[in-house]
Amino acid sequence: MSEIPAEQQERESALVERVVASFAGTPDPRTRELVEALTRHLHGFLRETRLTEQEWKQAVDFLTAVGHITDDRRQEFILLSDVLGASMQTITVNNQAYADATEATVFGPFFVEGSPEVGLGGDVAHGAPGEPCWVEGTVRDTGGSPVGGARVEVWEADADGRYDVQYADDRVTGRGHLHSDGRGRYRFWAVTPTPYPIPDDGPVGELLRLTGRSPMRASHLHLMVEAPGHRTLVTHVFPRGDAYLDSDSVFGVRDSLVVDVHQQLPTTPTPDGRAVVGPWARIDFDIVLAPSSGG
Ligand code: BEZ
Ligand code: FE
Repeated sequence: MSEIPAEQQERESALVERVVASFAGTPDPRTRELVEALTRHLHGFLRETRLTEQEWKQAVDFLTAVGHITDDRRQEFILLSDVLGASMQTITVNNQAYADATEATVFGPFFVEGSPEVGLGGDVAHGAPGEPCWVEGTVRDTGGSPVGGARVEVWEADADGRYDVQYADDRVTGRGHLHSDGRGRYRFWAVTPTPYPIPDDGPVGELLRLTGRSPMRASHLHLMVEAPGHRTLVTHVFPRGDAYLDSDSVFGVRDSLVVDVHQQLPTTPTPDGRAVVGPWARIDFDIVLAPSSGG
């Protein structure tokens, strides 16, 4: 800002301080901290970029459009947070690395409460189109002890890149939950994850196009693992070699979550003896839970 005359800089700084001071009487200290920091960062952005009034109006129109398209089924503000990396940064701040605990990543908008329970080795695809994929591993704590009875929730898009809730009918496919056994082991059938675009027919999609960015998410399977005494883990498994690992539209990829997908011939016997038509795949993914007290 060196080219801005000193007197102008003083006027701008004085305004920032007046706005900050207006919040001085906020009774809750945390609320006060947040509104003060928001004021300083927002004014910092306006001053640093020398935002024009026309640009300010465009920003207001953009946020208005984000609000208008948002309803019970579509949350464009979360999508905006996702593509700006703000969702992932919030997760990063709130899930500090703890020993070898599995890393967390974005939750996304397609989780639905009340998924069907399947037994160990059950099929969470429930008829979703896609290549059958056997997923297995153990749930343990950071001391290496198995975590039995952990609830493992799974949800994923089908081979056409859509979640069940994106279809007009009431199908429940590509989702389910199961519990780890006494030795912490879990296993289930799903479909091999495939890439898909985030909803891009609204203002967030426009932003991506304007900035030359792809709406594609790297292929993934969502997992949420819950067990008493442990930090709930919300994560993904990403197949190695996926074309979008380096350009995931919501910045959700972590190297530690990228796994090999072992392709199997149609003639290779399946782990549970299930008869499958055509090729199938398998993924091994061990999960480590941090303690609830672990940061
Ligand atoms: C998802 O993985 O399901 C997702 C995450 C963020 C935005 C859109 C979709
Ligand atoms: Fe997803």
